[in-house]
Amino acid sequence: MRYRRMPIEVESPEEVGYGSIRCNLAESSMRDRVLGDLRLDVDLAGTILLYGDHRGHPGLRERLAAEAGCAPSQVLLTPGAAGALFIVSTSLLSPGGHVVVLRPNYATNIEAPRAIGCGISFVDLSMERGFQYGADDIAKAMTPQTRLVSITTPHNPTGTVLDEGELRRIVDLVTSRGAYLLVDETYRDLTVGTPRPFATTLGERVISVASLSKAYGLPGLRVGWLLTRDPELNETFLAAKEQMMICGAVLDEEIACRVYLRRTEELPRIAAQVKRGVATLASWIATEPAMEWVPPAGGVVAFPRIKAEAGVDVGRFYSILNGEYATFVGPGHWFEQDDRFMRIGFGWPTPAEFEEGLANVSKALRSARV
Ligand SMILES: Cc1ncc(COP(=O)(O)O)c(C=O)c1O
Repeated sequence: MRYRRMPIEVESPEEVGYGSIRCNLAESSMRDRVLGDLRLDVDLAGTILLYGDHRGHPGLRERLAAEAGCAPSQVLLTPGAAGALFIVSTSLLSPGGHVVVLRPNYATNIEAPRAIGCGISFVDLSMERGFQYGADDIAKAMTPQTRLVSITTPHNPTGTVLDEGELRRIVDLVTSRGAYLLVDETYRDLTVGTPRPFATTLGERVISVASLSKAYGLPGLRVGWLLTRDPELNETFLAAKEQMMICGAVLDEEIACRVYLRRTEELPRIAAQVKRGVATLASWIATEPAMEWVPPAGGVVAFPRIKAEAGVDVGRFYSILNGEYATFVGPGHWFEQDDRFMRIGFGWPTPAEFEEGLANVSKALRSARV
């Protein structure tokens, strides 16, 4: 493995220091929750701090399995979706292998295969095509060595959601070529309208990955999951987890289970906040002549771009935005894209912080005109 720190982590708000940020539009989740506000109805002082079930908290696995129509043994809890993605990459990829992955993407989906040193073909998403892609694009990128196709839906950073028919076509394609399909559906509970089925229900060679971090604002719990109906893969994933960490943190998993069991009570509040955030962003874009975008269909981020003809000095823009206005967005280079793109998170900031932050982006755009 050839590890290197990714810009999205080095420059993340938690590494920069929350204290130095006034308007934080760089987050990709709902606002972080406070433990005392979770109404856990349990005295955690009685929790025995033993090595837990190696697959993860049985109650949480049972609930996930019931929703996904699979057996609890086919659910593996992981330290966040990031841990699940690492298990998938290290289990399936090798220097002689090949992966097809979307770009831009949540950085780990690209960086873990790169650290392993396997061959990578990208399916590049462009604003001109509305960040859309389909089975034909994946087919063109696949080679006889392709072991894994890695997609993310709802997508980070663009907020696009793959049409279910197209997803089924991709499942058929990948299955017919003897590869596996990884669906990073970390934003699944933030899909507008009817929730999608867990991707793993679509085929034995489909792996679903998600977590509690984004929709429920609980990234500090570090609880995610990996679902697969392939028995051999299931065993390999468990072996990988056991070698890395034996089991998850019992306290985190206990809290995660209690939150997840009550999640349907939380979802209307979350959906209302998301709707308000998108509406605020849409009205700002409508009045900001320097920006263009593709409206998001899911998740809590969008990936607008400074128009080329707006005549903005992009380096100066970020230095003014961060330095003078203490306002942060996710610059394009976090996602291996031109810095004219910026990821804007609309689920995390309070309404007042969000509006002030967007106004600051406009001011910085004006000040950085050449
Ligand atoms: C698409 C996607 N997958 C996975 C993750 C990792 O999240 P976590 O490990 O907190 O579940 C993120 C975080 O930004 C993400 O956006």
